[in-house]
Amino acid sequence: MELNIGAVQKLASPAPFGLVSVRTPEGRTNLMALSWWMFASNHPPMLAVALSKKGLSGELIEKNKEFGLSLVDESLKEAAFACGTCSGRKVDKAAQFGIELKAPEIIKTPLVAESKAALECRLVSVTDASDHNLFLAEIVAAHCREELNQLYAWDGYKRLDSIKK
Ligand SMILES: Cc1cc2nc3c(=O)[nH]c(=O)nc-3n(C[C@H](O)[C@H](O)[C@H](O)COP(=O)(O)O)c2cc1C
Repeated sequence: MELNIGAVQKLASPAPFGLVSVRTPEGRTNLMALSWWMFASNHPPMLAVALSKKGLSGELIEKNKEFGLSLVDESLKEAAFACGTCSGRKVDKAAQFGIELKAPEIIKTPLVAESKAALECRLVSVTDASDHNLFLAEIVAAHCREELNQLYAWDGYKRLDSIKK
């Protein structure tokens, strides 16, 4: 049987969704939609993210050696999806889509204010994964707001919604 990876990914959804934040050389904060992330270690806490080699975010993470991962609230459903449809090379997404940022504690990269969990990540290694790079990072700080409702990517990566309880 022929492998259709898109169909497999659709079957495997919903997937917990986040916005990767990274600082640009001009001092802006770029935001990118991300489904491909996972926790990777407890002691120390680590996570991994897979970013396309074509996008701006991966390029900047390699330079900055740090990034934020914000598991954003359902109130940002449309704005967060929009961060997956255009590149920070052309658009200041936080400003254009009205996404409020908040100051980090340890790293220099701002996070998304309306997040159930906003994680400050310091790069440990980069592994070539063909059309993506896999970034392994230590989580050096976490800002949590239990009352918020995080978003998931549904039908593969077609739409964002929370899981209603
Ligand atoms: C729901 C959703 C999930 C996405 N997940 C990923 C992902 O895990 N990895 C990836 O490289 N791109 C993913 N994308 C696509 C990027 O967000 C998109 O290519 C973006 O334009 C890259 O922005 P940048 O050039 O500013 O980094 C996703 C898009 C959407 C809509």
